[in-house]
Amino acid sequence: MKEKVLITGVAGFIGFHLAKKLIQNGYEVIGLDNINDYYDSGLKYDRLEVLGISKDNALTLNCIAESGTYKDFKFIRMNLEDRKNLPELFAREKFNIVCNLAAQAGVRYSLENPEVYVDSNVVGFLNLLECCRHHKIRRLVYASSSSVYGQNKKVPFSTEDDVDHPISLYAATKKSNELMAYTYSHLYGFQTIGLRFFTVYGPWGRPDMAMFLFTDAISKGESIKVFNNGDLERDFTYVDDIVDGITSVIEKKIINNDEKYSLFNIGNSKPVKLLDFINQIEKELGKEAKKEMLPMQPGDVERTWADVSSLKEEFNYNPSTSIEEGVSKFVEWFKSYYN
Ligand SMILES: NC(=O)c1ccc[n+]([C@@H]2O[C@H](COP(=O)([O-])OP(=O)(O)OC[C@H]3O[C@@H](n4cnc5c(N)ncnc54)[C@H](O)[C@@H]3O)[C@@H](O)[C@H]2O)c1
Repeated sequence: MKEKVLITGVAGFIGFHLAKKLIQNGYEVIGLDNINDYYDSGLKYDRLEVLGISKDNALTLNCIAESGTYKDFKFIRMNLEDRKNLPELFAREKFNIVCNLAAQAGVRYSLENPEVYVDSNVVGFLNLLECCRHHKIRRLVYASSSSVYGQNKKVPFSTEDDVDHPISLYAATKKSNELMAYTYSHLYGFQTIGLRFFTVYGPWGRPDMAMFLFTDAISKGESIKVFNNGDLERDFTYVDDIVDGITSVIEKKIINNDEKYSLFNIGNSKPVKLLDFINQIEKELGKEAKKEMLPMQPGDVERTWADVSSLKEEFNYNPSTSIEEGVSKFVEWFKSYYN
């Protein structure tokens, strides 16, 4: 029998790519998402359309929709905060593995609207842990974030480093997820694997992230906001590399003496200077950016750089997409999607 995986946040950027990959690899996938309007929900419906779910079928809350394209994909519009329907979904579908990507993302927005971060990322995550506990889920894989490292100066960032000083509420909720997962693995014995994602980019990417904002503005001849006068570095990670890494973690056979709780960085491990990144987008678009140089934003960090040695060792993780190739693929998608 096929393994059944629940992917939460499936209409989102990474969840959408992961769903395609797992269907391809022979899993039965149920995707969950509340399709909130933090950014253009049209992009979320379009991602679902690629997965064979029409907008009409995705509109109703708590109702399973079958894919017209993939026989092994179904979608349910549901809130992780829904303490009634989420357990019913688990009781009915009997998942083997859960991958939690649903969350309120974005560092900057957490300064404006902190409540939604606690609702989705803390209350929602607790509901999911409770469901995993009561429905004997073997493995929960969940998204954490490089933002937990805060203003860590030591590079590359290692999961051994201190992460007790998050500088945004978003980061604090992600760190809370790691603590909550530890507690549930300890108390109830199911396996939890946290992955700290480092700035993911690629086709179908998020409109609130730099890659998208810059490409959009430069192509329209509008100015871009360059924070900290451009003196920032990010460990940009191409979405296919992230998805390959998550898939290896999902697929690894469970052995009885496996660690119940574990945590890994998942990044490219090659930080890129922001100005070089902008330069690459300019090259691909054949247009020069108008740069508005600005000071550092509250909540933001100067540099991220993932030490991925343990993910390499345990899961053969091997990110292979260069920034040149990744930016080129993003810009190609952007041009064709927005015509
Ligand atoms: N993209 C990155 O660079 C990055 C970096 C670090 C961590 N992450 C984490 O990875 C995960 C996926 O990120 P993404 O970039 O695909 O973001 P995304 O916003 O595109 O996807 C998240 C999806 O979750 C859904 N969602 C949010 N709250 C929900 C709730 N309460 N119930 C049900 N669905 C809900 C949203 O509608 C959205 O479609 C998130 O947990 C994010 O915090 C992403």
